[in-house]
Amino acid sequence: MIPLIAVDGPAASGKGTIARALGRHFGVPHLDTGALYRAVALAALRAGLDLANGAAVGAKAAALDLSLLEDPELRGAATGEAASRVSALPQVRGSLLAFQKAFAAQPGGAVLDGRDIGTVIAPHAPAKLFVTAAPEVRARRRFLELTSAGREVTEGQVLADIVARDARDMGRADAPLRQATDSDLLDTSELDIAAAVRKAVELVSRRLGRIS
Ligand code: C5P
Repeated sequence: MIPLIAVDGPAASGKGTIARALGRHFGVPHLDTGALYRAVALAALRAGLDLANGAAVGAKAAALDLSLLEDPELRGAATGEAASRVSALPQVRGSLLAFQKAFAAQPGGAVLDGRDIGTVIAPHAPAKLFVTAAPEVRARRRFLELTSAGREVTEGQVLADIVARDARDMGRADAPLRQATDSDLLDTSELDIAAAVRKAVELVSRRLGRIS
């Protein structure tokens, strides 16, 4: 069975770390699809665009400057917030669709993480994980990540941000964040990274009919 793995979940659930580790374990390339939406957001912010202008922001997505994926601001809170706004625009989602589907169609398999991988980008994936954790746990993780990178934020701000992003990602009309019915749920609230990765490898191996 082709090792095509879909990993979805809310912000700071640990899905990115888990998806990268799955890529290494199963020897398949990994795509962080959130980075694509963040790059579009950054391009739109720098061009001073109205983030609700579907045509203008969609044009940025259609001609995406890939060097933005290496930009230090890509991981900033403001970029994440803007990414969750522009990702609600059908023009933006449409522009990024073909690239993501082509990545998923690689003959040797792939792992993609995001919000709609198991539902829209690769609904046929044999292995799907929905990674989640309590909002307070996710806020704590993101707070530690941001402050260790030298950013000045409070834990309360980060929690409010996460709750707002969850609501926006789950409430939008186009490809809302939701668990695919045929996915495995992995709650990382009580797990450290190593334990979460072990569990993910076990769940995916079972789906792919392999021994972990
Ligand atoms: O995963 P990350 O937090 O980097 O994603 C940033 C934003 O991009 C998310 O809040 C979400 O709104 C959007 N996104 C999406 N679909 C994906 C991946 C990310 O809408 N497949």
